[in-house]
Amino acid sequence: MTWWRNAVLYQVYVRSFADSNDDGVGDLPGLISRLDHLAWLGVDAIWCTPITASPDRDFGYDVSDYLAVQPIFGTLDDVRDLVAEAGRRGIRVLLDLVPNHTSDRHPWFRDPSRRSWYVWSDRPNNWVSGFGGSAWEYHPGVGRWYLHNFLKEQPDLDWWNEEVRAEFDRILRFWLDLGVAGFRVDVADGMVKDRWLRDNPPASPEDEWTPRPRGQRFVFNRYRPETHEVLRRWRRIADAYRPPRVLLGEVMVREPEEWAAYYGHGDELHLVTNFRFQFASFEPVSLSEVVEASLAALGDAPWAVPLWHGSNHDFSRFPTRWCHGDDRLVRLALTMLLTLPGACILYQGDEIGMEDVPVPPERRRDPVGRDPERTPMHWSGAVNAGFTGGEPWLPLGDHRSRNVADQRRDPGSLLHLTRGLIRLKKRLRGPYERQPGGSGCWRYRRGSTTVELDFEAPAARIAEA
Ligand code: NOJ
Repeated sequence: MTWWRNAVLYQVYVRSFADSNDDGVGDLPGLISRLDHLAWLGVDAIWCTPITASPDRDFGYDVSDYLAVQPIFGTLDDVRDLVAEAGRRGIRVLLDLVPNHTSDRHPWFRDPSRRSWYVWSDRPNNWVSGFGGSAWEYHPGVGRWYLHNFLKEQPDLDWWNEEVRAEFDRILRFWLDLGVAGFRVDVADGMVKDRWLRDNPPASPEDEWTPRPRGQRFVFNRYRPETHEVLRRWRRIADAYRPPRVLLGEVMVREPEEWAAYYGHGDELHLVTNFRFQFASFEPVSLSEVVEASLAALGDAPWAVPLWHGSNHDFSRFPTRWCHGDDRLVRLALTMLLTLPGACILYQGDEIGMEDVPVPPERRRDPVGRDPERTPMHWSGAVNAGFTGGEPWLPLGDHRSRNVADQRRDPGSLLHLTRGLIRLKKRLRGPYERQPGGSGCWRYRRGSTTVELDFEAPAARIAEA
């Protein structure tokens, strides 16, 4: 029942995974056609980035209809097929839920009778958007300012409003009734805003721990205690399904105790992203410190399922950021990700060590420059990497030297390593126990298995007693 305790979740960036109709953009039939790869790899679940209708200012994270599928990706029947086809292979499907904000083209934002569904002010406070600049935009038709914690085309919903909460209950149930295994919740730490819209204090050095500096401590625009009430409300919905559904929240906090708080008492999120881990520098001291502090903060409560990830669609991929393209380091990173206790997310391409792809200015599509980590999947060394028969929406990386088909033929490849590690992960039992190791080495035990990550060699060694 608690399949996620030891799960490997695989993040599919749908636009860049597989294109079935040669329009250069990945889609649901394309994803379905590649499920055998994921079944062979042995993943438990996929998390699909948003597939709902969107003007794509923030590529799906600006939703204009929560119950409709973005036509370029397919139809609702394709989602049903995906759930069924994945299910036949033992793979569950999680969808991305974007509750913090909508698109400015969502009918709710254009409906005068729903003004109170959004956050308005007569005087902007000092809040800055996660993407830089003021988080407020003047709406001439309304004569007031609306809040946008991301792009100005992404107005924030007012989560104090009970109608908004009730509407999202319906949205959750719509997809859960369709058979999805749960959601990855976007900005799960941010829905409710300070009731009085108080100014944020200036940032201290420890507030600037993410790759995108904020300039202020996010206190009143994010991380409000009342957001936990919303998570508990959704947990009750998820738990009422059979089998129970899973909530994986995108939470971006520095302190392990704050991170652990999003699990509640087993009554909030089932899995919480650990960005302190993702942003740690790739050396044994900082990595082991984050891991040990995270495990200590979570304790051994029955709901305590830590989550580890090195890449996603928002930040430089780990083979580039952590490993500088050195496959020996990529082996080490994969071994770490897949032998730590709990669940792990692999981002599409991690299994072959895909790196960031430099994207020339004229081909950039993302307003804040995240294209290098979003380029199409390398299925083969053929033209367009087997991703599309058309012109890919973003340029391809060096798919001739790194692709699924070649690595599948090579038993010594990263792909085979990943598959073997996923199999090992399923057998691993027992808590993380730190072992003494030489300098540059991180050794730990899980039951009778010892993992040695030697960052100096560099090499990863696994000894099964
Ligand atoms: C986090 C998502 O992963 C990112 O892609 C998006 O831009 C922001 N949330 C805003 O929705």
